[in-house]
Amino acid sequence: MKETVLITGASSGIGLELAKCFAADGCRLILVARNTEALETLAKELRQAHKIEARVLTADLSLPETPKRIFEELRAAEISVDVLVNNAGFGANGSFAEIPLPRQLEMLQVNITALTELTGLFLPGMIQRKRGGILNVGSVAGFQPGPGMAVYYATKAFVLSFTEALAEEIHGTGLKVSVLCPGPTESNFGSVARGKKVRQLKTSKMTAAAVAVYGHRAFRNGKITAVPGLQNHLFVFMSRILPRMLPRKIVKFYNRTTE
Ligand SMILES: NC(=O)c1ccc[n+]([C@@H]2O[C@H](COP(=O)([O-])OP(=O)(O)OC[C@H]3O[C@@H](n4cnc5c(N)ncnc54)[C@H](OP(=O)(O)O)[C@@H]3O)[C@@H](O)[C@H]2O)c1
Repeated sequence: MKETVLITGASSGIGLELAKCFAADGCRLILVARNTEALETLAKELRQAHKIEARVLTADLSLPETPKRIFEELRAAEISVDVLVNNAGFGANGSFAEIPLPRQLEMLQVNITALTELTGLFLPGMIQRKRGGILNVGSVAGFQPGPGMAVYYATKAFVLSFTEALAEEIHGTGLKVSVLCPGPTESNFGSVARGKKVRQLKTSKMTAAAVAVYGHRAFRNGKITAVPGLQNHLFVFMSRILPRMLPRKIVKFYNRTTE
């Protein structure tokens, strides 16, 4: 039987491209995000291209009741999720004191709480069926503190730590658990995050498609921590070997705003 894969944040960027990867495997998809029109367009394209089932589930993960609602809706439809892809997430540029507190708390809800709750709801079924797994989308931001995007970096540190720990816990169950840690990637992320204008350094961005293909392959191969691209590998390597105060100074310089 083909796997059922639930992907959050499938309406654009990396999530949309991950949906294409799992569709190419022949999986049945459940596409989750707020933008119904974008999800419907993608679902139609994937049904035609891969002769798969694709279901759209419009949901706002910043609302605390959403993960439970998704779980109950699928249970009522007798759909078991084999693979959960927790990709939905966003950032916000600026110093902690300047970014409105409700926006920061919303980030914790989407990037951490919803991801954790969805994992907690769907994992027991996977363990029982000895089938499937979880692919969380973290970031290279998770490897060090991020002045100028403090809460975002901290949410991704949670995703990295949580996923690596979970991977050890489920070892031997037949499941796979991975965390994909992209660096700068072409997507809507920048326009959503941009409160103040950020003076970007000239770093090359990977395409969302290249990141997704890497993450999908890493998950299939059972790689736990997946960092796509040489530039991102170097960034993570430096974060690990440099004295802890240096990477945060570098990130502060990188994330500085022009106003
Ligand atoms: N782009 C980068 O440079 C980069 C680097 C490292 C990690 N990442 C991570 O990659 C993941 C995907 O981001 P992306 O780069 O592909 O950005 P994106 O194009 O902005 O995609 C973000 C996705 O998350 C969904 N989303 C956001 N808030 C949501 C909410 N409240 N409820 C439900 N869905 C929500 C969006 O859908 P709707 O707006 O339709 O709800 C969209 O599908 C994120 O976790 C991000 O932190 C990105």
